[in-house]
Amino acid sequence: MSVRRLVPIASLLVVALACGSGRDEPVPIATPSDAPAAPQAERDGSPAPAPSEPSGSGKDATAPAPAGSDEPRGPAPPGPGDVPPTHFEGREIAQTMSFVGAGWLTRANRDEEEDTTRLHQALGLRPGQTACDVGAGNGYHTIRMARAVGPTGRVIAVDLQPQMLEMLRARVDEAGLHNVETIEARPGDPRLPEGACDLVLLVDVYHELAWPEPMLAAFRRSLSPTGRVALVEFRAEDPEVPIKRLHKMSKAQIEREFGSRGFALAGSFDELPWQHLMFYERDDG
Ligand SMILES: C[S@@+](CC[C@H](N)C(=O)[O-])C[C@H]1O[C@@H](n2cnc3c(N)ncnc32)[C@H](O)[C@@H]1O
Repeated sequence: MSVRRLVPIASLLVVALACGSGRDEPVPIATPSDAPAAPQAERDGSPAPAPSEPSGSGKDATAPAPAGSDEPRGPAPPGPGDVPPTHFEGREIAQTMSFVGAGWLTRANRDEEEDTTRLHQALGLRPGQTACDVGAGNGYHTIRMARAVGPTGRVIAVDLQPQMLEMLRARVDEAGLHNVETIEARPGDPRLPEGACDLVLLVDVYHELAWPEPMLAAFRRSLSPTGRVALVEFRAEDPEVPIKRLHKMSKAQIEREFGSRGFALAGSFDELPWQHLMFYERDDG
């Protein structure tokens, strides 16, 4: 068979894989949901090789507080045999975007479509800070964050898929940056250091977290005393936003999930073309 015939067949295969995810809405542009979903093992808590095994004994278990602390820690990370929920607070959890579609994340017109320049201005990162990019993918936002915090600061980039982290490291090296560390997450545990993050950035990832509840607890624990979570999600309220429904969230849904789990809304930036940007801080009251 000639190479010429193989190329269209390969493209059809990618589309067929993407369409096999059970979603039926038409999408006018290439979106994360057009990429094949990540293998189930990367979503459901099946063990992946990593240096330290989380000690969680089940999704309803509460992680022990450190000695001398009476602070609530929230649900512990899931154990290896635990089955992830399909829904959370009435929302269907989306499938993880596979590394196969990573090119979409660094497309040339992303800034034009999502106004990522304004997004980063709104984040307000400062030199010397520790910024944590969770679900960092191939590092589109990581690189901007690393420039914003400068050589005296650091970025901790976290992702489930080692292939994404490999691409991210290659892009960081190419950019000549030396202040980025990477962490391979577990589906229910970002493995972030506690109390370290001045900012936890979640861009287009929260809706696809297989275990939202222990992840929320882990984000809260990872914040420095003045740290904030910046949540970026495509607007479900706006039918003009050309993204499949399962990959969008409404403000009301976001507040339902964060508001009752130790977070207080600290503000929102409503000037992005397609996305909500909502800031949460620890609600220690
Ligand atoms: C749609 S991509 C967004 C990537 C990046 N934030 C961006 O905007 O360019 C979502 C990423 O989240 C990652 N992800 C999904 N579930 C995760 C989890 N539980 N922990 C860490 N990363 C996760 C996926 O592997 C994927 O790279």
